Amino acid sequence: MRTVKVIGVGMGNPRHLTQQAVDALRSVDVFFVLEKGSAADELVELRRDLCSAVIGTGDYRFVTVPDPPRDRSTTAYAQAVQDWTAARSHVLLDTMEAHLEPGQTAGILAWGDPAFYDSTLRVLDTARTTGHLEIEVVPGISSIQMLAAAHRISLTRVGRPLQVTTGRRLAEEGIPSGCHDVVVMLDGHCSFQHVDPDGVHIYWGADLGGPDQAIVSGELGEVADAILARRAEIRSRRGWVMDTYLLRQDIPHR
Ligand SMILES: C[S@@+](CC[C@H](N)C(=O)[O-])C[C@H]1O[C@@H](n2cnc3c(N)ncnc32)[C@H](O)[C@@H]1O
Repeated sequence: MRTVKVIGVGMGNPRHLTQQAVDALRSVDVFFVLEKGSAADELVELRRDLCSAVIGTGDYRFVTVPDPPRDRSTTAYAQAVQDWTAARSHVLLDTMEAHLEPGQTAGILAWGDPAFYDSTLRVLDTARTTGHLEIEVVPGISSIQMLAAAHRISLTRVGRPLQVTTGRRLAEEGIPSGCHDVVVMLDGHCSFQHVDPDGVHIYWGADLGGPDQAIVSGELGEVADAILARRAEIRSRRGWVMDTYLLRQDIPHR
């Protein structure tokens, strides 16, 4: 039996690691990294830097796994993601089979926390169900928590629900009815522009916890342009930007 540790590593800063994550990193023999051949590979470099900062030159290896291409031409989004997950699963498991001795421990570093919009656990699901691998998860600090801390706010109001969604869904469906607090991730198109700004406050953060951290908050109608400008500026300087935001709607009095 081989063990795979899926370790949440926060936003790439060693100070975001929990002690449990540090212990897990030090126990890994081989780290497996899906390489996309794009700007996202800068995050792969950050993961390597993190390991050398925490473990030093210990007795561990990095094995890169070429990430299979995803069909972005289709409108059948869910099916395309399912096919892509299956392809990634095969490649990852084959690579692990080739590089991991029985009894050794594999590590996969998940950005933030693996519980939020991270495919690692889905990709490993096949192995989990066939019983070939023992899987352990170490939680990390998510961009969601970084956002709340940067703005010094609680994401939940007394007795109220919080919804976490994607930019794509926000653009298609707007703020879900009955939910007045929505965290939006994976939004390459600034979907907040399509939301009726009346009574909506936004708490926005980009590169949270990183060297380019930027935050803006205010009435959506008043600060949307400032967010667009700030986002565009980071993107043009670095080539990419990751941002997360909370939309908080006034709750009508009954
Ligand atoms: C694939 S998801 C991974 C989320 C990650 N598992 C987490 O817990 O934060 C990528 C999305 O996370 C958010 N994100 C990741 N890193 C971020 C950062 N440093 N600052 C702001 N948002 C970030 C963005 O919404 C981005 O589109």
